[in-house]
Amino acid sequence: MCGIVGYCGPKKVVPVILEGLRRLEYRGYDSAGLVYLQDGKIVKHRANGKLSCLEDVVGDDLVAPSHLGLGHTRWATHGAPTMENAHPHSDCTGELVLVHNGIIENYHSLREELRAKGHVFTSETDTEVLAHLIEEYLEQDAHGVDVLVRAIKEALARVEGSYALGVMWAKAPETLIAVRNQSPLVLGIGEEKGMFLASDTPALLPYTRKVIFLDDMEIAVLTADDYQIASLVSGEPVDKEITFIDWSASMAEKGGYKHFMLKEIFEQPQAITNTVAGRINLESGKANLPNLGFSDEQLRDIDRIFLVACGTSWHAAMVAKYWLEKYAKIPVQVDIASEFRYRHLLIDERVLTICISQSGETADTLAGIRRAKKMGSKILTICNVVGSTMTREADGVIYTHAGPEIGVASTKAFTAQLSALLLFTVFLGQKRKQLSLEKSLQLGRALVGVATVIEEILPSLQKKIASLIDDYYDSRDFLFIGRGLSFPIALEGALKLKEISYIHAEGYASGELKHGPIALIDRDMPILALVPDDDVYQKSISNVEEIKARQGRLILIGSEGDSQLANISDDVIYLPRVDDDVNPILYTIPAQLLSYEIATRRGCDVDQPRNLAKSVTVE
Ligand code: F6R
Repeated sequence: MCGIVGYCGPKKVVPVILEGLRRLEYRGYDSAGLVYLQDGKIVKHRANGKLSCLEDVVGDDLVAPSHLGLGHTRWATHGAPTMENAHPHSDCTGELVLVHNGIIENYHSLREELRAKGHVFTSETDTEVLAHLIEEYLEQDAHGVDVLVRAIKEALARVEGSYALGVMWAKAPETLIAVRNQSPLVLGIGEEKGMFLASDTPALLPYTRKVIFLDDMEIAVLTADDYQIASLVSGEPVDKEITFIDWSASMAEKGGYKHFMLKEIFEQPQAITNTVAGRINLESGKANLPNLGFSDEQLRDIDRIFLVACGTSWHAAMVAKYWLEKYAKIPVQVDIASEFRYRHLLIDERVLTICISQSGETADTLAGIRRAKKMGSKILTICNVVGSTMTREADGVIYTHAGPEIGVASTKAFTAQLSALLLFTVFLGQKRKQLSLEKSLQLGRALVGVATVIEEILPSLQKKIASLIDDYYDSRDFLFIGRGLSFPIALEGALKLKEISYIHAEGYASGELKHGPIALIDRDMPILALVPDDDVYQKSISNVEEIKARQGRLILIGSEGDSQLANISDDVIYLPRVDDDVNPILYTIPAQLLSYEIATRRGCDVDQPRNLAKSVTVE
């Protein structure tokens, strides 16, 4: 949801900003802009469309002799994606410029007030109000960083909403200001000299791995060789921990693959292996989650679990409900975060709320856990991004070690989430004395084993799926169905297909078909059914037969050796037999590949689908 980046230091600033924006483009790609200071003057470039359009506009200014600047890649909230609405935005003098990620809720009344005072607005954005409001508090003819910081503080005291801000002023020419409230912002400390600000760490990886995560209501003053962080409210200095990020710059590159999404699909065996490594003993079955943040007594005392997440992460939660209820024997409720945050909740201190999030910044999920915490619940975060807001606000964290996920459609983060959730199930089952070491060992080995199986089949599976899609890629609608552990995977398959190919797709529980959707069946709507040979296999086959009897067009994904599948389908994809409990991880892979192959065949931009952005930091 918008990416911001800033730099001051010895390097030429424009290439640093453009590289940072390239690495943040997954957060929004409606329009982009940058600004830098040269010979005491502000130079601004903006362009509608993707970053490449901005690069064209920048042209020879790429090598401008400037060492201080800001950039922004936009996901439109207020105002259409146009050049005028692209950031950076300026005040009336053009000397103060800023970039913003978030939403200014009271922008309308502030804008009217500022208009009455003579401010002229050139965009429809909420952000532009901030530039004019800060201008209002700048002392006339004054200059210097103290004047700027004072004005920012006074202006922000009047603002309601969320913001990560980068601000520069021609009259404080050596300084960048970074401010955060409810939108992510991280500072990077250059190897020798230089300071960076960014919405997310991938923008910093080519330059530094030493970062500081700002917290809400903190303001940072950055110069080429120093930084100071203070409370926005009291002005008191704040001592911040420096975090070392163990991701490398190349991990956030395509590495020879055509798309990030494909690379990330192929990285799944490693992501699963890294997530499981060292967390379960493959001789004894004992699960080990050091630094989880909960005592054994606390884990025994909880009487319910709420799983809260959005989108793909919500599908991971749905799978985890089956596991937790079966093996830890505890009631589990699964909620979409945007519903959870507003509905009437029955939560007390015996509830454990688990939020699942790749980014750790999703606004609805964050609001959900804040609410649960206020009601007395303990919070566990399952997350892929070290130091993200959700990890800092939780009582305990389990990291998924999937590495940076850049493709907007989540793939490896999902299977890593499933792995972490199965691990946690085993851990909790043991702590609550509900799960034997023998069964734990079986589950642990199944998890490690499924990574190997996926590694082995990925190349041939991709070929097989690519050979099928001629018959399906121009469909208008698609149905995905599954039962039990395969039901959430059907939902996930449908989400993947619709978000990257723009084909209308629905996921359904197989048994629900006859309660309505069966009316849709005709030869124009392919139905992909997940039918692993598991404990609900016979029921799944009955549902498939019901479709066949109505001349439905069927793609079946099932277990190797199940010869009857070929007789009741138009196409069949066979997968190796693994432990039933890890089937959801395995069966996700063909669903991802099918979506990828269909979308690329339709000429869609799979890494940056229209209207979407990764890391949804607005409500
Ligand atoms: C779909 C997808 C989204 C995210 C959702 C939650 O492919 O990526 O549905 O899963 O926006 O994001 P996180 O997990 O970062 O909270």
